[in-house]
Amino acid sequence: MSSPTQPAAPGNKPPTYSADSFGEMGGDSFIRRAGRGLILGLYGALRSIKLYPVENPVVQKALDDFTAAAAEVLRQEGELELRVSSEFIFVNSTRLRLDLDNYASFSHLLSLFRASGIGALAVRAGASRRDWLVLLSLLQSPGRDETPEARFKQLLGKLEQAQVVLFELAESTVADDEEAREKAKEAAKRTYSQSVAVTKDLMTSVRIGRSPNIKKIKRVVQGIVDQILNEETSLIGLTTIRDYDEYTFTHSVNVCILAVALGKRLGLTKLQLYDLGMAALFHDIGKSRVPLEILNKSGQLTEEEWRHMAAHPWLGVLALFQVRGQQELPYRAMVVAHEHHMKTDLTGYPKSIRQRTMSMFSKIVAVADGFDAATSRRAYQTVPHPPTDVLLEMRDNPRRGMDPVLVKAFMNLAGIYPVGTLVVLDTFELAIVHAANPIPEMLSRPIVRIVSDDRGNLVHPGVLVDLSERTPEGDFRRTIIKTEIPERYGIRVGDYFV
Ligand SMILES: [Fe+2]
Ligand SMILES: [Fe+2]
Repeated sequence: MSSPTQPAAPGNKPPTYSADSFGEMGGDSFIRRAGRGLILGLYGALRSIKLYPVENPVVQKALDDFTAAAAEVLRQEGELELRVSSEFIFVNSTRLRLDLDNYASFSHLLSLFRASGIGALAVRAGASRRDWLVLLSLLQSPGRDETPEARFKQLLGKLEQAQVVLFELAESTVADDEEAREKAKEAAKRTYSQSVAVTKDLMTSVRIGRSPNIKKIKRVVQGIVDQILNEETSLIGLTTIRDYDEYTFTHSVNVCILAVALGKRLGLTKLQLYDLGMAALFHDIGKSRVPLEILNKSGQLTEEEWRHMAAHPWLGVLALFQVRGQQELPYRAMVVAHEHHMKTDLTGYPKSIRQRTMSMFSKIVAVADGFDAATSRRAYQTVPHPPTDVLLEMRDNPRRGMDPVLVKAFMNLAGIYPVGTLVVLDTFELAIVHAANPIPEMLSRPIVRIVSDDRGNLVHPGVLVDLSERTPEGDFRRTIIKTEIPERYGIRVGDYFV
């Protein structure tokens, strides 16, 4: 199979590792490998059609490569079907894994299929370069009809007109989408609640001086990493639950999820993500050595109490040494426990006596930690800050001492309006941000769940809408005016994610 090239898309960094670095290629089936190549090739062809005139050799080569790749799959497998469902892409019923290499191509294909209401595309033998050119061009300029259903009908009509007959298109059904989304949600919920239970056990063990079961913790972290690599939306959504009573435990799990998601975007390998996840889950372990009455105090801490609290980084190192005495534990977890409240200029606590370079893992965890802590309701912070304000503060206030490159990467991951943000739309509806828009140019137009009508009547569960959707006139259907504090409307954001 020829390897189609992928023209650089604006705003997309070149991939920093290949899927091989995940060490999964050995057990990878032909269809998974070929499927990934096919999606990349399709993306390459789509981009070149958009950028150059059809006669341009770049377009011709991209189309040739892709047509040949598609024909090869068809020859080997006897069939070729691309199916999208919720956030997933299937090739001949095999679900493709989404990772950094193919992130742009996956999301582009998903949004094109969605815009034209396509659920599946089956290709029959003999599809020519011209056939593909017609189809791909039509996909990139979907009609101006109001709904995906109408655009789907129009697409069928145009294909027939152009005598392109070797593609069979099936309309996407809401039921398919919902089913896939429900399954992903259920899996995420299981991972999340298991992680909270294990973390609770871990912290309690350390508090009472019992040795925790590291194997169990490792399994939980591996579960989080695998889930984030497969489909990150559902798990990130769950970080918004932020259970007040269980703050210390859910906080550790949230920081683990957010740090792993950020590490994934930065191109860390799966093994590095396992280590990062462990370090993130353990970052506040020192808090189990801080007296509970200080940890849960709702008023201002006295100087003495604050000294206890600010000791949790090095208390964490001690606790981890003790755990490590008996069991295998990544050394980096200790560094992170020690450094996570340090700032990039080495102020913060504990005080650095000598010059040092903060570890990359500590900087990643500091960003995830700062974000989750500021957006949560805690004993001494009854009204959490809106996520958008927190992000801007992290970016713009140098006193926060966060690595600006990491904050930027985190903003790209979270979107300008992070998952769980309550927003007011120009239609006067209220909505909760459900997922960042996969298209990089649409960062300010996330996928949201409408939670009230224009008169403020709350609806549950509410429908999902994509804020990048336009009217037939080309205007955006809905636009965010501002963010709001959910408490003011009696809304519990977490309820919309379980
Ligand atoms: Fe901490
Ligand atoms: Fe923390």
